[in-house]
Amino acid sequence: MQSQVTLTIDGSTVRAPKGASVLEAALSYSICIPHLCHLPTLSDVGACRLCIVEHAMNGRSKITTSCTLLVQEGMVIHANSDRVRSLRRNIAELLVAQAPNSRAIQDIAMRCGVKEVRYPFRQDDCILCGRCVRTCKESYRANAIDFVGRGRERRVDYPYGERPESCVMCRACVSLCPMAITPCDGPMKPGEEYLCGKCESVTQTPQYSVGDCIRCDLGKGFDCVRHR
Ligand code: SF4
Ligand code: SF4
Ligand code: FES
Repeated sequence: MQSQVTLTIDGSTVRAPKGASVLEAALSYSICIPHLCHLPTLSDVGACRLCIVEHAMNGRSKITTSCTLLVQEGMVIHANSDRVRSLRRNIAELLVAQAPNSRAIQDIAMRCGVKEVRYPFRQDDCILCGRCVRTCKESYRANAIDFVGRGRERRVDYPYGERPESCVMCRACVSLCPMAITPCDGPMKPGEEYLCGKCESVTQTPQYSVGDCIRCDLGKGFDCVRHR
């Protein structure tokens, strides 16, 4: 049997299998930690940084991504402290500035408490979360796409710019892309930098319940509303 460890997240005692991440442990207890690049079936890379938590140790604390932090016996995690929420809000705000017309990202940002965006819009069509690359590699073993380029030029593409034979046209990459899940054609345009709130009202379903993937289809257990 897999050995279990006991830790504390936001004051609650949590038990999780050795080797699980703090994010997985929290979600299994319906403790909200916003996340975007994490998918339960794929490896974690800590790309979006939305899942940051405070890891308290020896009277000090360290901010780290919970999807890449493995559970340890006795660890103390603050997932929704003022410091974490403030930093997370800023990360979400930057994501909106990067991809203002992704409804999924707007939804996440609103639930992280973003009310206005103080950064200039970039209108990127990719936030480099890597969901597409990892699903292609790990779920389909196709290795048909990867990150190419550096810095501002970094993007997802076929290795030599052309679709390789290993691409089986499954479209899993597209179906998991937060830019494609719920594209928004306004109002996030230059000069109209605000969150309109229409996404939440449009996508909220009456069947919503804690633990379900809500509104933006970006992961089980995403329930920031309770922690505002
Ligand atoms: S459509 Fe092609 S590139 Fe996309 S996940 Fe499937 S195999 Fe990979
Ligand atoms: S194309 Fe979409 S899924 Fe792939 S890294 Fe960019 S934002 Fe993420
Ligand atoms: S979910 Fe952990 S960094 Fe994106």
